[in-house]
Amino acid sequence: MRYLTVALAKGRLASKAMEMFGAAGIHCEEMANKDSRKLIFENPKLGMRFFLAKATDVPTYVEYGAADIGIVGKDTLLEEGRRLYEVLDLKIGKCRMCVCGPESARAHLKNHELIRVATKYPRIAKDYFYNRKDQTVEIIKLNGSIELAPIVGLSEVIVDIVETGSTLRENGLTVLEEICPLSARMVVNQVSMKTENQRITALIREFQELVRKKEERKG
Ligand code: PRP
Repeated sequence: MRYLTVALAKGRLASKAMEMFGAAGIHCEEMANKDSRKLIFENPKLGMRFFLAKATDVPTYVEYGAADIGIVGKDTLLEEGRRLYEVLDLKIGKCRMCVCGPESARAHLKNHELIRVATKYPRIAKDYFYNRKDQTVEIIKLNGSIELAPIVGLSEVIVDIVETGSTLRENGLTVLEEICPLSARMVVNQVSMKTENQRITALIREFQELVRKKEERKG
């Protein structure tokens, strides 16, 4: 049996996703060892293997077929725009993509001024301001700690992920506009979907059921 390869976005999402695989009866003992520097983990009995990758690289691995399946945030999928099938919303890692800034920036947005927008997500920001709002802005790409930008005067606003909102609060910033809700998705390589259809479909069904049960418990 050919190994079915799963690419997981490193970090919080990966452990939550592995819990879901565990609940579906797919365990990977090797992966539980947190101190390990190993990058790829196998379950030979089930013919499954998992690897951890930087979130932004997960869609790349899946599009090229180096992974059959990927677990990654919708933010990354929107930003990377890769050709793959998005098959399931796992309803974990829920957060929102927002335009944020100091309260004083609200007027700039309202008046459609040519403001500077700092973000790790230039494609999402561009699409939002140019196509949905019809507002010309200058987009400045950053790679982390985006909240700094309006504080030190690099930009008027930011486009970033808001989960609990505590990073914003602690830095005197607020949500000014909401772009879209986000959560983790299961994605599948387009060729694997045909060649490994039975196994992948069975896995999707199991996960669908897990998501359904979890949402039901939440009411
Ligand atoms: C993300 C995001 C915010 C923060 C939001 O950053 O960019 O900074 O989490 O979470 P909160 O609303 O619960 O405070 P991340 O920790 O991924 O690191 P980054 O600064 O490198 O983007």
